[in-house]
Amino acid sequence: MSERIEVVFSEETVKERIREMGKQISAAYEGKELHLICVLRGGSFFMCELAKYITVPVSIDFMSVSSYGAGTESSGNIKINKDLDDPIAGKHVLVVEDIIDSGRTLSHLMELLESRRPESLALCTLLDKPERRVIEVDVDYIGFEIPDLFVVGYGLDYAQKYRNLPYIGKVCFDNIS
Ligand code: IMP
Ligand code: MG
Repeated sequence: MSERIEVVFSEETVKERIREMGKQISAAYEGKELHLICVLRGGSFFMCELAKYITVPVSIDFMSVSSYGAGTESSGNIKINKDLDDPIAGKHVLVVEDIIDSGRTLSHLMELLESRRPESLALCTLLDKPERRVIEVDVDYIGFEIPDLFVVGYGLDYAQKYRNLPYIGKVCFDNIS
């Protein structure tokens, strides 16, 4: 078995959509300061690009949680691998994630962050797979809705590969005989 990547959203399409999201978020937080929380590792490329198009004052922090092993199915509970460096109490917090699939990771993470009493808490994701949802999550900003596909690129990996692709692609498995 070997895998091949087919483009789903080109580099230009992704950049343009992130630019629009940046504008929308800037308007929503007009007059406020915004604290972005990047969910590592997948959210890193998206957050860096998004932050460039946000015009209100921004601060950033990083958190690493895991619910996925080497495969492609969520295990249902999250483990904090790296917590935030700064407190979020009283801040306008926007969580920046690469993709929402079953919703398990984010529903647990949002609950945890809410308990730390931010002034407001919202969620932004580059990709959303609504068909796969097992736990409901309120998503405030969505880059692209996609069907049940396994995608890589722009921060997203398959067994830690392909995060550096500048576009979003679909993983296709070819049988080599
Ligand atoms: P959830 O808990 O099922 O919503 O899982 C979300 C996490 O699973 C994401 O943050 C990704 O890290 C990973 N994930 C889900 N779908 C994909 C995919 O299509 N490609 C790469 N990673 C994925
Ligand atoms: Mg992720």
